[in-house]
This record gives sequence, C-alpha cells and structure tokens, in this order.
Amino acid sequence: MRNLTQDNITQAVIARFADTPDPRLKEIMTSLVQHLHAFAREVKLTEEEWFRGIDFLTRTGHITDDRRQEFILLSDTLGLSMLTIAMNNEKPAGCTESTVFGPFYVEGAPSYDLGEDVANGAAGVPCVVRGTVRGLDGEPVPGAEIHVWQADAEGKYDVQREGLAGHQARGVLHANGKGEYHFRSILAEAYPIPDDGPVGDMLKATKRHPWRPAHLHFMIRAPGYETLITHVFRNGDPYLDSDAVFGVRQSLVADWVKQPDGRYLVEYDFVLAPAGKDAR
Ligand code: BEZ
Ligand code: FE
Repeated sequence: MRNLTQDNITQAVIARFADTPDPRLKEIMTSLVQHLHAFAREVKLTEEEWFRGIDFLTRTGHITDDRRQEFILLSDTLGLSMLTIAMNNEKPAGCTESTVFGPFYVEGAPSYDLGEDVANGAAGVPCVVRGTVRGLDGEPVPGAEIHVWQADAEGKYDVQREGLAGHQARGVLHANGKGEYHFRSILAEAYPIPDDGPVGDMLKATKRHPWRPAHLHFMIRAPGYETLITHVFRNGDPYLDSDAVFGVRQSLVADWVKQPDGRYLVEYDFVLAPAGKDAR
C-alpha cells in the first residue's frame, strides 16, 4: 500500500481497522476517520491550520490537572456534552430533564440535615431551597440522596479557591419520609466558565462570551430510580438564552422569589425516572 493519494487514503486508513476485535470500537474508529478526513477536505485544511489545531489540543492537555478539566470544558463549549446527554437520557414524559455535570462536582462533600445551611460561609445573599423528590407515578421517594453544589456570589466554586480548607456551597442531604427536602444556601448568580486557557482563547477568537446563567447543581440518587444529574436555573437571568455550554432546558427554570425578610426562596420538585431498561 504505497503512493496513497488524497482520494484513496481515507479507505486505506479505514481498512487498517478491519481486524479490530471489538465491533463497537471498529465502528467508532471507522466513523471517526471518515468524519475527520471529510472535515479536512471540506475546509481545505492547511498545514499551518493543522499545526495550530495540534498546538491547541496540546495546550488543552497541559492545562488539565485534577482541579481543571479543559477537555470537558472544550466538549461543553462545542455542545458535544449536551448532545451526548440528550441522546443518552431520553426519559419518560414528566421526568425532570438532565443537563451537564460540569467540572466542579467533588466527592466527599459534607452531609447536612434538612434545613441546615450548605453555604458554610460562602459569600452570597441568603436563600432557601425546597421541594419534593417523586417518582413518575407521583410516589414520594423517601430518603433520596440529594447532592447540591453551586458557585458563590463572586461566581467561584469552593474548589476554584486555592487554599480554602473544607467545602462551601455544596453538600449532601436526604429527603424525608415524604420525599421532601429543604436547605439554606446562597442566591445563585451567573458566572463565567474558566476562560484563561485554550478554551477561553477559542471563545474570544470567535466572539463568544463565557457566561453561564445562574443555577444550582443537583445530583439525586435513590434505589430503583435512575440517577438524575441536573441544574435548576434562575428565571430572569440574561444568559438563559446564550449559556456558554448549551445546558438550559426551559423545564429547569424556576423563580427565586425575594421574601419579606430579604432572603430568597426557590421551590423545585424533581421527578425521577424508574431505573432499568423497562422504563416507560
Ligand atoms: C458548571 O456549571 O459548573 C459548568 C458546566 C460546564 C462547564 C463549566 C462549568
Ligand atoms: Fe455550575
């Protein structure tokens, strides 16, 4: 196989994967090569552009560590994360929709009793969050494990603050016997995704902004139900229609209502999908 040309190199590369034992891997590699080559042909990729692409990916790798995941950020800002989530989380009608996990979840967040303040000193306007966790038939999900995490008033997650001992504005709670939950925290505010790396360079070069509309992250787990990874977005946020990572779903938008005592209240009820392939 010599003297390959631009007209036959794609088939030659695909043929090289012919003996891949895993059929799924073979399918993925074949399609990847087809689409990569088609992309290069379509844009008539120059060598200089190819090199800039390699340099971009190299910088993306170099800035990635256990606190910063630039590849996920790249996937998020290209809409690949939300596309993959949408394709893999088609839930029965009535279930709470999923959205991006994001890079700021951490294991080992502190446990709180219902009613406690998960802010744990994070700066922000006080806020109460409450609602229920139910199944599709309206049945409460007693004891549902609720992980919540959010940015502070300056738009920073605790893990982004070097030297901060302990966790702030994140915690794990359990719904009561009626599937009800409530906790105190701080008002969700819009914030920019980290844009001091190659993904930020891409956003700037393409005149895109890095902002995410204000939101609270939730992960809810209970036996017999699919784990739900989602956000609740704050109604009225100016970035709801231009989220940098394409994560907004109208069904996830809720009102944060100012109370006479100055605190905000947001109420949101979650509906979990039944676990397993027999899900309706
Ligand atoms: C977040 O909401 O925490 C997030 C999601 C995707 C990229 C960056 C941040
Ligand atoms: Fe977030």
